[in-house]
Amino acid sequence: MSPKPVRKAVIPAAGLGTRFLPFSKAVPKEMLPVVDQPVIQYVVEEAVDAGIEDILIVTSRYKKSIEDHFDRLLEIEKQLADKGKEAEAEQIRSIAELAQLHFVRQGQPLGLGHAIGMARNHIGDEPFLVLLGDDIMHPEAGVVKGMIEAYQEHACSVVALMEVPKQDISSYGCAAVSEVSDRLVEVSELVEKPAPEVAPSNLAIMGRYLFTPTIFEEIAQTKPGVGGEIQITDAMSSLLGREKMLGYTFAEGRFDTGKKIDYLRAVVELALERDDLGDEFRSILGTIAKREGLT
Ligand code: G1P
Repeated sequence: MSPKPVRKAVIPAAGLGTRFLPFSKAVPKEMLPVVDQPVIQYVVEEAVDAGIEDILIVTSRYKKSIEDHFDRLLEIEKQLADKGKEAEAEQIRSIAELAQLHFVRQGQPLGLGHAIGMARNHIGDEPFLVLLGDDIMHPEAGVVKGMIEAYQEHACSVVALMEVPKQDISSYGCAAVSEVSDRLVEVSELVEKPAPEVAPSNLAIMGRYLFTPTIFEEIAQTKPGVGGEIQITDAMSSLLGREKMLGYTFAEGRFDTGKKIDYLRAVVELALERDDLGDEFRSILGTIAKREGLT
């Protein structure tokens, strides 16, 4: 029997965003603009490109602008249409039609595992994707598409993994693995944010997960871990005792927009790829690079 299709995704976007203060005092970090689109729109588009039809976004208080962004904006649509700017009007309209979007609020900051657990009723008995709301993946990296293919072949949970310098592993969930094929590894151990000296590897979890619904049973049993929060990595670690789990390894194409330096890189790289801005921006960057003695 072939495994159930992956139709649904969860985007946790409830975190406080303290790394992006003072910006994130009043505006959710997921609404940071990368050129002219908020980060979370890239994430929703990534899910839709991978064939996802239904998306649940987990938000929290002060994050209402995320819901507004994916709503219709009739006044502006009409104004643009009246001025004959049909393409622009359509662009605004299409954001509300990307997928069936649903929202739930995490009332207390109890952790990523808890936020994902809030999706249990909505997801039901299906496999589902989780895409962290402040990580952008370059479309060419094809990470979630690769993860879905791995799920279709192996019918088990799959997590995105990337090698990081050993001293950085304490910022991530860490996986011990054995090789399966070119990109796939089997996960044997998971630890959330280990100290580099005790980390079982330098393979870090990178904000994309594909879970079987069994994960909800494990989340419900998971006690607070690192930082006093219910960690998804701990729930995954318990899942390892019940089900096989694969890692999908990749080397580039991720921007952690929750980190200032990576946010800047995302803006530069993605602006350079734009048909309407790329050439002009490239020439500006060239001038700056010369002035800074970089070329
Ligand atoms: C979360 C996860 C961690 C993962 C990381 C990826 O941590 O808990 O396992 O490696 O996302 O960005 P956070 O960045 O929320 O501290």
